[in-house]
Amino acid sequence: EETGKSGYDHFMLKEIHEQPRALRQCFRGRVDELSGTVDLADLGDLSPRGVQLVACGTSYHAAVYAAQLFQQAGIPAQAFLASEYATSPPPIGDALVIGVTQSGETADTLSALREARKRGARTLAVTNTVGSTVARECDHAMYIRAGPEIGVAATKTFSSQIAALNLLALAITSVGDAREVISGLRDLPGAVQEILDTSTAQEIAETYRDAESYFFIGRGLHYPVALEGALKMKEITYKHAEGFAAGELKHGPLALVTSDTPVFAVVTGDDEMATKTVGNVKEVEARDAPVVAVTDGASDVERYADHVLEVPDTHRRVAAVVANVQLQLVAYHTADMLGRSIDKPRNLAKSVTVE
Ligand code: G6P
Repeated sequence: EETGKSGYDHFMLKEIHEQPRALRQCFRGRVDELSGTVDLADLGDLSPRGVQLVACGTSYHAAVYAAQLFQQAGIPAQAFLASEYATSPPPIGDALVIGVTQSGETADTLSALREARKRGARTLAVTNTVGSTVARECDHAMYIRAGPEIGVAATKTFSSQIAALNLLALAITSVGDAREVISGLRDLPGAVQEILDTSTAQEIAETYRDAESYFFIGRGLHYPVALEGALKMKEITYKHAEGFAAGELKHGPLALVTSDTPVFAVVTGDDEMATKTVGNVKEVEARDAPVVAVTDGASDVERYADHVLEVPDTHRRVAAVVANVQLQLVAYHTADMLGRSIDKPRNLAKSVTVE
């Protein structure tokens, strides 16, 4: 197993570093920059009137992100936790039901898709695993092409799921700014590489390694990043961590915020959304919480932050992925300093084949 790590201490760190390559692999042959189009012809004509995404864990966070892309393109879309979907199935109508699953074997996701199919839905698998159960059972399959992921905590596959779902959204919707999105996506592998080369996440991890609880906040596309940042922290450090929609903070979680609870705030751009999140950051700063801003520096969030984790100035869709890489590194280094079993965290499995 040691040899498989290519000199990295853990598979997780290796896989974090494989992200630029995995992303390029996902885009290869699927994007025509000149015409500003995406070619996923092998999927056939999907043209859905609505989209329902079902997934678990990290894949669910990619689904929450993707639902926003479809909505922005005018297609009603919703992300569901697969285990809840089967319990209380929503009306399907003409929706395409998309299962997002790295392994393609997660029982909860398979059973949600089976339920959808039973009720007449067309299904699409977005998966990393060729020949997996999900790929065999769904009407269509799109591969994220991230390569094998050994670390139990998903890293590169999350980024590649987001890349693939961006392509899918471009292919089946007619968004006005397709060219702009495509050029943003082209910058993604390089932007991730820049973070891998320059990140100060290790220092942040050192500073806050003794905290007992961590919060992550974000809005819009940065909301699933907050969820994912917290999940990564929980999975591999065994510390309490929660991700919140930035606007929800004041509706409860703010009661937990003290000088002992570092808050990671993902804020990029300087639009109204950013301004609102900066407002939420001020609220936690006023309660003496240490603030780590994950930002491109466009807003004035740095004024209220104790530390900054930089994100290059890129398209918002891309910034979310890059910001997430910073949070992957914070979780990794915190767990490493605490001596945790990073690649095989206690109680967790890479693929959960029971409901
Ligand atoms: C397990 C893994 C998670 C993963 C989830 C969904 O719980 O520990 O890392 O996100 O399953 O897996 P999938 O293969 O469906 O993406």
